[in-house]
Amino acid sequence: MKNILSPSILAADFWKLGEQIRLVEQAGVPYLHIDVMDGLFVPSISFGMPLIESLRKSTQLTFDVHLMIRDPERYVEEFARCGADIITFHLESTQQPGEVIRRIRACGKRVGITIKPGTPAEDLLPWLDQADMVLIMTVEPGFGGQKLLPECLDKVRFIRKVSEHRGLNTDIEVDGGVTSGNLREILAAGANVIVAGSAVFRGNVTENLQNLSLQME
Ligand code: DX5
Ligand code: ZN
Repeated sequence: MKNILSPSILAADFWKLGEQIRLVEQAGVPYLHIDVMDGLFVPSISFGMPLIESLRKSTQLTFDVHLMIRDPERYVEEFARCGADIITFHLESTQQPGEVIRRIRACGKRVGITIKPGTPAEDLLPWLDQADMVLIMTVEPGFGGQKLLPECLDKVRFIRKVSEHRGLNTDIEVDGGVTSGNLREILAAGANVIVAGSAVFRGNVTENLQNLSLQME
């Protein structure tokens, strides 16, 4: 399975956002992780449709959109229209995960399902066959720059095992507290899509991207 880096623009310098996204493209990194927060599902508010729509006009990167919003079924079509390629929603954020999945599929987009650190991985099992990607959060969602909770990597191992057992090809993404120091351990646990915010955008972006990409080969 191919390892993919997904830089989270939450940690970018918004004054230079376009420039920094060009650096991601030039490094040959295929994904861009876009964190949408509504101030209800998580305490913080980030950005939404107008930003995604605007970025979509100038880049072909795969938009890996992480919805941290209550009742995401309300907005699936709009995020698809704005340019999301992968739409990931929190199992804890909706009463009707099946409906969210149906809507994402109907828009022709890829389905991602995610859980917070406190949610057991078993909760994902009924939905696993319908997901293109599972995102295991390794920090409490809402803020960048936190420390990875190592116990969450057990959930990565578990989902990788079940996915293989079922003959699925599920992408497993990890988000929160990724550094060049813990990346190898995360990959070894079975993750293949790696979100990195601070580890990419704090300091020299090109150097950070090169360094992380090298470790992902
Ligand atoms: C947190 C977000 C993350 C965040 C990661 O709620 O989902 O994507 O940007 O930031 P770092 O990599 O700095 O932990
Ligand atoms: Zn995220």
